[in-house]
Amino acid sequence: MRARGLNKRFGERQALKDVGFEAAAGELVAVIGPNGAGKTTLLSILAGIQAADGGEVETGAGAVGWVPQQAALYRRLTVEENLLLFARLEKLPDPRASVEEMLALTGLGERRGEIVARLSGGNQQRINIAIGLMARPSVLLLDEPSVGLDPRQRARLWEFVSGLAGRGTTVIFSTHDIQEAERYGNRMLVLADGEALFDGSAEELREAVRGEAAEAADRDFETAFVAYLHHRGH
Ligand SMILES: Nc1ncnc2c1ncn2[C@@H]1O[C@H](COP(=O)(O)OP(=O)(O)O)[C@@H](O)[C@H]1O
Ligand SMILES: [Mg+2]
Repeated sequence: MRARGLNKRFGERQALKDVGFEAAAGELVAVIGPNGAGKTTLLSILAGIQAADGGEVETGAGAVGWVPQQAALYRRLTVEENLLLFARLEKLPDPRASVEEMLALTGLGERRGEIVARLSGGNQQRINIAIGLMARPSVLLLDEPSVGLDPRQRARLWEFVSGLAGRGTTVIFSTHDIQEAERYGNRMLVLADGEALFDGSAEELREAVRGEAAEAADRDFETAFVAYLHHRGH
């Protein structure tokens, strides 16, 4: 997937300013930035959910899967009913087969008959991701996927997502958790006030943070990162 010169304005607010990046097959890209940085706007434009004012997105050959921050699940339907509903909405050729595939992939086969409202947040998030995966996308976009999960649920989520990337899916996820970005992302794209401040590996980001915010470099990385944003005028 490749994006170039993306711009998006909401009234007076420039939510994205000339943002571009590339992600290869199997790469895990973390889009990091504080609230309001433009993460959701960027991902939803990449997903084709909303249009940019300018710039272009090349998605490559395969489908793009979208996992919104707020799961759009029907809480009073069962796991299986939810999956079947979305498989039909996506007009997949064999909805029942897709449901079975997603139940197997998420390990939720035994919970198929359960009402979604009774599942843990972690399992609800797995269904949310399964829906994004139904069309077998080659690029998966996840908007703050770990918010609200406990540490064990997070670990399972990342094990699952890393496995997808290991099998060649390009994964682009947003987070405001710098540690999570470092731990699970191969590449970091730092957004602040709609601008891409940095694009590179975690080590390169540490290097940049050290160069920009020397006085905070000996502190924990999150503190140093906040100082870095401050130095860069954000
Ligand atoms: N539909 C919208 N209408 C007006 N302003 C919006 C809309 N969506 C986002 N914004 C604004 O654009 C900026 C970026 O928002 P967003 O992409 O949601 O940031 P993030 O996901 O990083 O928190 C924010 O200032 C936000 O208020
Ligand atoms: Mg957001």
